Amino acid sequence: MEYKTVKVEIKDHVARVSLNRPEKKNAMSPQLHRDMTQALEDLRYVDDAKVLVITGAGDAFCAGMDLKEFFHELKGVQSEYDRIYRMATEWRGRTLRYYPKPTIAMVNGYCFGGAFSIVEGCDLAVSANEAQFGLSEINFRMFPGGSVSKSLANLLRPRDALLYAMTGRRFNGVKAADMGWVNMSVPLADLEEQTMALAREIAAKDPVALRACKDGYRFSLEMSWEASMSYTAAKEHEVMVLQKGAWLESGIGDFVKGLYKPGLESHTEKK
Ligand code: COA
Repeated sequence: MEYKTVKVEIKDHVARVSLNRPEKKNAMSPQLHRDMTQALEDLRYVDDAKVLVITGAGDAFCAGMDLKEFFHELKGVQSEYDRIYRMATEWRGRTLRYYPKPTIAMVNGYCFGGAFSIVEGCDLAVSANEAQFGLSEINFRMFPGGSVSKSLANLLRPRDALLYAMTGRRFNGVKAADMGWVNMSVPLADLEEQTMALAREIAAKDPVALRACKDGYRFSLEMSWEASMSYTAAKEHEVMVLQKGAWLESGIGDFVKGLYKPGLESHTEKK
């Protein structure tokens, strides 16, 4: 799996996907959008990659859209601008949101503008305390466009979203965790180890159940109560078919036999 601006390494069933333009603080160029689109498509079908961790090469997570290669150079080339714009919103939005495998953003440094949509698109996020987040668009006389406004609306409290969007002030990983923008924040020196431990913990769970976790949550957000009850009942049958009855027969069956306590340990991890 070779890409010009993205690096993929798979170890312990975890795919580490690095935005790989460290000399440009991993700003998202048109090529990076093409590469991420392709990498996510490829990893979808790699069975060994059970969880994805998205991070940045070097000392930055991602400096947002490439202001030069995307906005400046493509603005006059309308069809290509539209093509990359669509691709850029699609992989960070729909593709990540409904990705069939769990995704974790590992924020190792600067995270600006369009990079907020990577963090929000992932299911989970772990940040370095030292990371710096900023909605810098207002500083160049713009607003959080593309998928970014929706990302803010999805995950931030209104006061936080508008404060940071209207000022361009930066906040660090500790603040990001306080705000619920990331799950947790740890010292940069521990970021890799702690994020990978989380990824391995999740990778050890049943993949069919994990996908149902995501779908059940994400689709229920958009459904009425009645529709959600109907959807999750149907999903239960889907899990049953795909796992060949494993959750009921061994998952619950082994508890009933007194073999383990699911409140305290995982059946999948035990085997
Ligand atoms: N688009 C294009 N190029 C970018 C970029 C971006 N978003 N962010 C950084 N770069 C480039 C710089 O132009 C520089 O390129 P050069 O070496 O060819 O001059 C290189 O990356 C390194 O950045 P530099 O500014 O020298 O590093 P720094 O550590 O002093 O500052 C940032 C890093 C991220 C704070 C600063 O580059 C910046 O403000 N970038 C824009 C961030 C932004 O507004 N993002 C929102 C986009 S939606």
